[in-house]
Amino acid sequence: MTAPLRGSEPILVPVALGDRAYEIVIGRGVLASLGKGIKALRPGARTAIVTDETVARHHLAATEAALAEAGIATSRIVMPPGEGSKSYAGFERVCEAIIAARIERGDLAIALGGGVIGDLAGFAAASVRRGLDFVQVPTTLLAQVDSSVGGKTGINSPQGKNLVGAFHQPVLVIADTALLDTLPQRDFRAGYAEVAKYGLLGDAGFFAWLEANWQDVFAGGGSSGSFAREHAIAVCCRAKAGIVARDERETGERALLNLGHTFGHALEAGCGFSDRLLHGEGVALGMALAFEFSARKGLIGEADAARVTAHLAAVGLPTRIDQIPGGVPGADTLLDLIAQDKKVKRGKLTFILVRGIGAAFVENNVDPAEVRAFLETRLKD
Ligand code: NAD
Ligand code: GLY
Repeated sequence: MTAPLRGSEPILVPVALGDRAYEIVIGRGVLASLGKGIKALRPGARTAIVTDETVARHHLAATEAALAEAGIATSRIVMPPGEGSKSYAGFERVCEAIIAARIERGDLAIALGGGVIGDLAGFAAASVRRGLDFVQVPTTLLAQVDSSVGGKTGINSPQGKNLVGAFHQPVLVIADTALLDTLPQRDFRAGYAEVAKYGLLGDAGFFAWLEANWQDVFAGGGSSGSFAREHAIAVCCRAKAGIVARDERETGERALLNLGHTFGHALEAGCGFSDRLLHGEGVALGMALAFEFSARKGLIGEADAARVTAHLAAVGLPTRIDQIPGGVPGADTLLDLIAQDKKVKRGKLTFILVRGIGAAFVENNVDPAEVRAFLETRLKD
């Protein structure tokens, strides 16, 4: 179970959604093929690139060059970095800029950035002129394995995260793994939580592979000649593509992708969605809690929960609530936040729990008092 050593060809992962099917192209240097890919899909289309200031500094010139090489006209919309851009004000700004750039139906928006830009640009594309096509060029690990695939787009409301949005699938995803070389280590690590999630929810073999090869995933292919990073991203994209093709609108199986998110979102909200706890860090901590809670309910042995926690900790992700700098609110407030995030139905909560590593399931019948008692024990640690 070592990391793959060769892999200069891009990896293509299809997302089978009938007349809205599209391809995810994964590999080092695939950004150069962006213009060719767009030309093949939408000959004659003009484009508007939506990005943030940080990503623009590192990767906008190469993106514009890839489009220019294929003779594609483009304009740029550069937003401030961070979750704050995923707002009504940010949405208005992007929509107005797309209209001002005279992007018509048949033209394309391009989301060049992490999950924030992907969600924001995707929602603007879903809305302007009642729906423009868009291309995802994800630049964070989190976006390459999760947010750029599957068509969930949206913004935050003052009342909560991702409360306003639309399902709107991209027409192409270009995941250039070399773009991750400029990503700060903390953001890369936070994105790794979503990578581990795919093993933990449905693929025990992949989790074991990650335990053995995570350092190669972090190192990337540029220096080591290992293609572990590309392999890991492709495994995640295949898993997500399969789930999305079977349950695009999250009426069932897609909810498994929320493993760790119920506890994680409550902790993120408890930190005011600040950089005290990045989204992926919240997911890591939430997954550790979901495994410990499953062990407490007798669904798995303590050893499985300890194995998950040990791997996340080895990577440097938080696994205990007391690792959050500045602390979090008490069990009652966390429980309120959980109830807000995932609605209470007939007095019961919904959680993604596990019957083993790689065996997640949706449990709709969780007693809030049981969650509260569990949180009390974790807050005391
Ligand atoms: P992000 O988009 O804020 O990016 C993190 C930081 O990295 C930003 O400061 C950004 O400027 C910087 N950055 C991005 N790419 C870079 C690069 N290549 N080099 C250097 N810096 C770079 O955050 P994220 O973690 O990618 O995404 C989090 C968002 O994704 C949240 O809003 C979350 O709700 C959303 N999300 C959406 C889905 C979905 O299915 N739509 C799934 C998971 C998460
Ligand atoms: N990130 C969860 C989903 O796409 O459904």
